[in-house]
Amino acid sequence: MDRIRIRGGHPLKGEIPISGAKNAALKLMAASLLTAEPLRLANVPRLADVRAMAELLMSFGVTVQVNMGPGLGDGDTMTLQAGEITSVFASYDMVRKMRASFQVLAPLLARQHEAKVSLPGGCAIGARPVGLHLNALEAMGAKIDLAEGYVTATAPGGLKGAEIVFPFVSVGATETAMMAATLAHGTTRIVNAAREPETVDLGQCLIAMGAKMTGLGTGEITIEGVAALHGAEHRVMPDRIEAGTYAIAAAIAGGDVELVGARPDTIASLTALLTRSGAEVTTTDRGVKVHMNGSRPRAADVTTAPYPGFPTDLQAQIMALMTVADGTSVVKEKIFENRFMHVPELARMGADVRIDGDTATVRGVKTLKGAQVMATDLRASVSLVLAGLAAEGETVVGRVYHLDRGFDRLEEKLSRVGADIARISE
Ligand code: EPZ
Repeated sequence: MDRIRIRGGHPLKGEIPISGAKNAALKLMAASLLTAEPLRLANVPRLADVRAMAELLMSFGVTVQVNMGPGLGDGDTMTLQAGEITSVFASYDMVRKMRASFQVLAPLLARQHEAKVSLPGGCAIGARPVGLHLNALEAMGAKIDLAEGYVTATAPGGLKGAEIVFPFVSVGATETAMMAATLAHGTTRIVNAAREPETVDLGQCLIAMGAKMTGLGTGEITIEGVAALHGAEHRVMPDRIEAGTYAIAAAIAGGDVELVGARPDTIASLTALLTRSGAEVTTTDRGVKVHMNGSRPRAADVTTAPYPGFPTDLQAQIMALMTVADGTSVVKEKIFENRFMHVPELARMGADVRIDGDTATVRGVKTLKGAQVMATDLRASVSLVLAGLAAEGETVVGRVYHLDRGFDRLEEKLSRVGADIARISE
């Protein structure tokens, strides 16, 4: 199994190209099931999760063609065509490995009027139920049966528009409802909808495919169903979590880094926090620049929340920064119940963090020390890489397959700006 070795203490300088967003690309790929015509996606990131979604779609009869972009900053182009859907079954094996596989349920049901998809079960960051997805589909007239770990959904005469009021914000359930509603009879109103940029990106692609949708980026989305969608071309938005991670890398290691292609509006909550902790963050005509003059970051409190709040997917990374900050920071995780797995690993590197329920109190230490560490999800893993950039000596991060799921050529991007980082293959 591959590991990543980092020798800390090198300030970062230069440019890091930002790839397409994983959490947009996966749902955009699933949306290809909604039409028999080709969907052409540009700026697709090169990730294990993208390959897993392509495999799953191929098992339904979708053809997938990839043209690899030549450079680190050029995403791949992917053409998906669900001319004829030959299977509507997603196995436990597929969905267990990648939760986003569950997002095929709505488009399969909308187009084929039936689907059988495994329940995802829990994962490292919490129980993560899918009740809101199923309630939304039921409200649209689907019959849902749960047996032997599978959801069987049927809607013989097609789905019907409905009013769906979510009790709290769910990215995935909003996207399920959006995809289902595009081909439903009548109008669907989603109240308390997710406003995440990836959800907006999916909506914009659905509109390019002929969906009638308004309210994207607000808490209320209205969709008027149409009889069929058509092919389209869409460029995957830049990954705000990747951009945020490298912004924190510049802050923790010190230096001057331009995140080429990053969209500043999508990382505003992070840039406000980084500025408070002493980094200089500026918008350039190509993206975002982060400058940290080598001084110690200042402690700052942070609470995760749905967009535009601070993203849970950057919580582990910002905590890595706070472990070396001057002062004590309070980090609250409000989205997932078990997303502090990085804490015992950071402690192995000398971090001083106390957890009490959803709250972590981080007392900044002057220096971290390199150690062997590993984590059980991808954002936690990358937080250990960030800690390694700041630590004295050598850090070896195990279970690199987590990083490969969600960070496009991470060690190449970081070594380009001066980090001493390498993959050890065994
Ligand atoms: C998406 O997950 C992302 N994944 C996650 O990124 C991200 O952390 C999360 O949104 C929040 O921003 C993808 O886009 C593939 P939710 P999702 O439904 O859609 C609860 C990463 O590292 N909930 O918004 O699954 C749920 O348990 C991943 O890239 C229910 O209770 O998240 C959680 O506490 C990790 N019932 C909260 O809602 C439901 O039916 C928000 O989850 C659905 C969700």
